[in-house]
Order: sequence, then structure tokens, then C-alpha cells
Amino acid sequence: MTSKTLTVPAVALGTWAWGDSGEVGDGYFGSQLTASGLREVVEKAQSNGFTLWDTAVVYGMGRSESVLAQALKGYARSEYQLSTKFTPQAAGDGDDPVADMLEQSLDRMGTDYVDLYWIHNPADVARWTPLLIPLLQSGRIKHVGVSNHNLKQIALADQILGEAGFRVEAVQNHYSLLYRAAERAGILDHCREHDVPFFSYMVLEQGALSGRYSPAHPLPEGSSRAATYNGVLPQLQALTDRMAAIGEDRGASAADVATAWAIAKGTTPIIGVTKAGYIDGMIRARGIELADEQIAELEALADAADVDTRGWWEQEM
Ligand SMILES: NC(=O)c1ccc[n+]([C@@H]2O[C@H](COP(=O)([O-])OP(=O)(O)OC[C@H]3O[C@@H](n4cnc5c(N)ncnc54)[C@H](OP(=O)(O)O)[C@@H]3O)[C@@H](O)[C@H]2O)c1
Repeated sequence: MTSKTLTVPAVALGTWAWGDSGEVGDGYFGSQLTASGLREVVEKAQSNGFTLWDTAVVYGMGRSESVLAQALKGYARSEYQLSTKFTPQAAGDGDDPVADMLEQSLDRMGTDYVDLYWIHNPADVARWTPLLIPLLQSGRIKHVGVSNHNLKQIALADQILGEAGFRVEAVQNHYSLLYRAAERAGILDHCREHDVPFFSYMVLEQGALSGRYSPAHPLPEGSSRAATYNGVLPQLQALTDRMAAIGEDRGASAADVATAWAIAKGTTPIIGVTKAGYIDGMIRARGIELADEQIAELEALADAADVDTRGWWEQEM
């Protein structure tokens, strides 16, 4: 009963910041997103073969899913893939909180299935994972993945799904030059050995590794990401400068090099896209081949920065 294998792009698109747009935005990113700007992002991404959109109920509490659906209007459902999440902490108190949350997502996104559905975190693997099975069987979700799970939790989820003829088909964790816990814990190796795609999130550390921000030009004042990263921008300068220098020969930016690094490590980066121009960066990143020495050099500079960017929602791996 195992479902048709998931099609994995070189780079997926993240829309957490899209939850900031509009009247219920919470200002997490402090970016100014407009409906027309997001439509432009969608058009550019879709026409360049970037068609997997990652969102979650909790990004702007439904706002990200709604504006994404709005921006995708007019495209045939088969032309794009939707990736959204069940967040245990937002579960309702009905008989089946997973089915309920999924139905609300489907409603907001105006569709009757999700291509890739994630359990957002391992709050209670044994409780939530079994509830995915009927949703796979009914076709409401086509593929499942687990996010922020450690190796043991991935194995447990896989065992529960396996009893019904399904499996964990994807893993999504924080993975960047600055935060390589998933690699150190053996999760990347595990995914490679079991042919499970690993999606890396926050490859650009919410912009801190993009090269656009520096002590002289910090992240938007008042935003959550500014609170997290502005204090460590001086420590990141040597790394972002080196990425910019590596990119320069290829007409690429530091952000493109960071993205190319995540691809070189065998992962699929989910890049938070807020501007249409960033799609050009994804196209460049797709074409950059970093030499082993460059990868080692960047990782050494990242280690020397000595910053811990583990999110408040993440457990130790
Ligand atoms: N499963 C989970 O628990 C989890 C957690 C976090 C994120 N995610 C997913 O992963 C996605 C990515 O993470 P993220 O959005 O938090 O952070 P990110 O991808 O590390 O960084 C996104 C920010 O980087 C900047 N940026 C993006 N592309 C750029 C480019 N080509 N050149 C220069 N700057 C660029 C933008 O900042 P400006 O707008 O300031 O230019 C953007 O807001 C999320 O959107 C979400 O889908 C999942």
C-alpha cells in the first residue's frame, strides 16, 4: 500500500514569513509583504520549476496558508505541491484533532488534498502518528513526513506507519552552516541510507546568513528574528564575507552559496522566499558546485563563529 514515491525538487519554497502579511500578521519577520508581491514570487517560482510550497497552520495562524492559496490562484492543482503541517500544540479537543486540523488547512487552501503532510514536532509521536493512517488511506494526504524529530522518534513514527503499509517519506529539520545538529546526530546518514529525502529549513538563518544583513545594516528592528540574530551578526561576518567571495566569480550572492552548500550536503533546502528576485538566487544555487575544500572552509568558519541558533521550539538532537 506504499504510496507513489514523493517527487523532490532541488529547492522548496518556505512561506513562514507570508504569515506576517495582512491584518493578522504577527511581525515575526518584520518584512513588508503584499499580495501582488507574493503573486510575483509565485509566478517566477512556478515558471522556473520550483513548485513545492511549504507552509503550516501556525504561520500567522492560518494566514500563510490563505495568502499562499490566493497567490496560487489560476494554476491547475497538479502544477504545484502543497506541504503543510499538523502542529500538536495547536490541536483541538475533538475526537480526531489531526483530521480536524487538516480539514481546516484544506478549507483555507481551497483543495481536497495535501501532497506532503508533516507532524510538526515530536510532542507525542505515539499519540499523533497513527492518526495519519486514515488520512493516507482516504487520499486526503499523499505523503507524510516528520519534522524536528530525532532518530529514535523518526524510527518510532516509521514503525507505526509501517504497520499499516506506509512509511516516513520525508524528514524536515533545521539545518544550516551554523546549525548542523541533524548531521552530527546521524539523521542525514539515516535519510541517505533509507532513501528518505531530508528537507533543511532555515538554511539562511532567517536572513542572517544571506549576506544582506550586517552590524551596520541589521535585521528589521522590532522583529523576532532581529532579537535572535542582531546580537551575533559581528560573529557571522567572516563567514558571510567568504560566501560572498565564493559567489562573486559565479555572479552569485552569499545566500546562493549557503543554499548551494545545503544542496551539496544531499539535502533539499526550504528557502523562505519573500521577493521574486530571490528565485534567481535559487536558480543560481541549483547550478553551483562547491569543491570539497570550499565546503570544509565554510564549515570551519561557521564553527569559528561559535553561535547557537537552535530555535526555541527545537529539542537537542
Ligand atoms: N518545521 C519547522 O519547524 C520549521 C521551522 C522553521 C522554518 N520552517 C520552514 O522553512 C522555511 C525557511 O525558513 P525561514 O523562512 O524561517 O528562514 P530562511 O529560509 O533561513 O530565511 C528566510 C529569509 O532570508 C531572506 N532571503 C531568502 N532568500 C534570499 C536570497 N536569495 N537572498 C537574500 N536573502 C534571502 C529573506 O529575508 P528578507 O525578507 O529580510 O529579505 C527571508 O525572509 C520556512 O519559511 C518554513 O517553511 C520550518
